[in-house]
Amino acid sequence: MTVSIIIGAQWGDEGKGRITDLLGSKMDVVARFSGGDNAGHTVTIADQIYKLHLIPSGIIHENTTCLIGGGVVLNPKVFLREVADLRERGVSIEPDRLLISNTTHLITPAHIALDTAKEKALGDKAIGTTQRGIGPAYSDKTDRSGIRAGMLAHPEALADAIHAHIAAKNVILTTIYGAEPLDAEAIAVEYLEYARQIAPHLTDGVGFLHEALEDGKRILAEGAQGTLLDLDHGTYPFVTSSSPTASGAMLGLGLGPKAADKIIGVTKAFSSRVGAGAFVTELDGAAARRLRGSGENPWDEYGTTTGRPRRVGWLDLPALKYASDINSFTELVLTKLDILSGLEEIPVCVAYEHDGERVRFSADNDHLLACTPVYESRPGWSEDIINCTNFDELPANAQAYVNYVAEQIGVPVSTVSVGPARRHTIFLS
Ligand code: IMP
Repeated sequence: MTVSIIIGAQWGDEGKGRITDLLGSKMDVVARFSGGDNAGHTVTIADQIYKLHLIPSGIIHENTTCLIGGGVVLNPKVFLREVADLRERGVSIEPDRLLISNTTHLITPAHIALDTAKEKALGDKAIGTTQRGIGPAYSDKTDRSGIRAGMLAHPEALADAIHAHIAAKNVILTTIYGAEPLDAEAIAVEYLEYARQIAPHLTDGVGFLHEALEDGKRILAEGAQGTLLDLDHGTYPFVTSSSPTASGAMLGLGLGPKAADKIIGVTKAFSSRVGAGAFVTELDGAAARRLRGSGENPWDEYGTTTGRPRRVGWLDLPALKYASDINSFTELVLTKLDILSGLEEIPVCVAYEHDGERVRFSADNDHLLACTPVYESRPGWSEDIINCTNFDELPANAQAYVNYVAEQIGVPVSTVSVGPARRHTIFLS
């Protein structure tokens, strides 16, 4: 089998972009399967930093074909902006190298306006969404009223659909949220222009992937967000509206449950979260600032999409074990180990306590809010590890930290990252 899946094992921002990029260079196809431009994948090659939100990270490799799968929600404006940015930086983007499944749903300005209006109306109960229209677009999909990318090949039907869609959303925007109505005709004109540019990228995504598999091609499914933001298995309602899990990859791409041979869980050596919701190992004050960084570096803990400072905390093994159970990880990638350098002791959460009892992680936000972390201290290391190129060069306590995580979760760590660039990656197997 030749399908590998990369999954965020936490709340997103685990450093999946880098590992996707490293594996992507060996793949024939890299496919996104869920989410939209709420994601932000930073890939650093030489001194070039690419920030991609929608286009699969594999696009940087000229022999790789990229697919935006049916499980994704696509904002055509963002798609075309990313294409233009990449072209400007010398990346060749022919339509047959960057495909969009006909069944991918489109995000419209009405979805974005609704996302913003809903969040505002929720006040201090807001989810803290990225306000990219993700939730409203998926709502329309499950409501069976969404507009699919395939319609971009049918301009007349598209214009009619946009008019009906905007008219319906204007009722909600004006009467429920007291917001301004949107101009349906202007949006229809805008989308017809997107259609002209995007139609050559459209394909039967499922057929394309199965043909690729029959031809012995290697496929990488590139996850966005993280398991704990999963609509079903995350900390609902503080989740995203899609399935960023291994099962979500199968669903979003139209692959069978036995298709994958590698399911790679990516976790930071600590924890971070953007937006609201339970976070059992969250830190504040100096300890948080230490993990978050100042914001001066692109790899500091500030959102790639929104620029918001991320909430940070120690590594949470009950949450990681849960993610491993949900996804059947076959290997773990541990990122940002270098951030822990210089700490004398590194607390790791080994269990949750709830009403005096030890409990597992569960997808119940209120329950998690009432849990307290039980920490075990691991010995730290003082050396700078950024120039270590193999596992044996890491300080003994850093090696022990990596081995400890693998043992606790029962999944081998295959890769460790020790700095921001591609070369700062250590392969253990
Ligand atoms: P939405 O996906 O924009 O609806 O946001 C829902 C929740 O998921 C919010 O807490 C966001 O901060 C979070 N979220 C969405 N995408 C990402 C991501 O790529 N990384 C981290 N958090 C994300």
